Amino acid sequence: MAIPLGVRRQPLPENQDEWRRRRFQDRFLQQLDVEIAGDVLDVGCMDGRFTARFAERARSVVGLDIVPHTIWERLRGPNLRFVVGDAQRLPFADAAFDVVLAVAMLHHTASPISVIREMARVRRPGGTLVMVEPNRLNPVTWLHLTLFSDHDHFRTKPFIRLVDRVLPIQRFHRFEAHLWPPGDGPLLRALERMDDALGGTRWWRPFALWNVVLA
Ligand SMILES: C[S@@+](CC[C@H](N)C(=O)[O-])C[C@H]1O[C@@H](n2cnc3c(N)ncnc32)[C@H](O)[C@@H]1O
Repeated sequence: MAIPLGVRRQPLPENQDEWRRRRFQDRFLQQLDVEIAGDVLDVGCMDGRFTARFAERARSVVGLDIVPHTIWERLRGPNLRFVVGDAQRLPFADAAFDVVLAVAMLHHTASPISVIREMARVRRPGGTLVMVEPNRLNPVTWLHLTLFSDHDHFRTKPFIRLVDRVLPIQRFHRFEAHLWPPGDGPLLRALERMDDALGGTRWWRPFALWNVVLA
């Protein structure tokens, strides 16, 4: 039976942007492949929507950003709070967190090395630092972020060397995942399949979007 124009095959969630964001976050978290548990700090949390996903898994989560966001008020809950502060001087005691994450934030700071030192200071012995940075060589983000939005993403090796100056690296991996613009239709699924295929392809690795360093 022909489907009339304007009628979708799948019911759309109320807020399509939110649905698409959650889908991206799920794919991102799956490939990040890190246990988010215990007391967690999300450094440079921006609007906190990723931080809120960490709070679905962890005992307690703190999101910190130098810029406050009004949406924090709506997101905060029994195990999730937000703090305004400078990641280069974290307002927390030593060894306060089990997992300390910085997702796409180091390249925004004047002194990324100070941020990494601070992240290491507030991590408990045996805890994990998770640093995720966009790869400057990824063609998609290079076009719209480097060329048109003045982002200065790290290349892979300088990023690894930067962390290595502060503390030993436990694991490095990379993966492909984009918050693609098209809604919930076949184009989105085709682009996600392309991400998955490229992410598993050896020759593509130097161009994959996300570089992950665990320390
Ligand atoms: C691309 S956003 C991070 C996105 C967020 N982690 C996420 O995954 O949704 C970079 C963030 O770093 C924050 N930032 C930049 N310099 C900072 C600093 N010195 N201390 C804390 N946050 C900082 C910015 O305000 C911005 O919200």
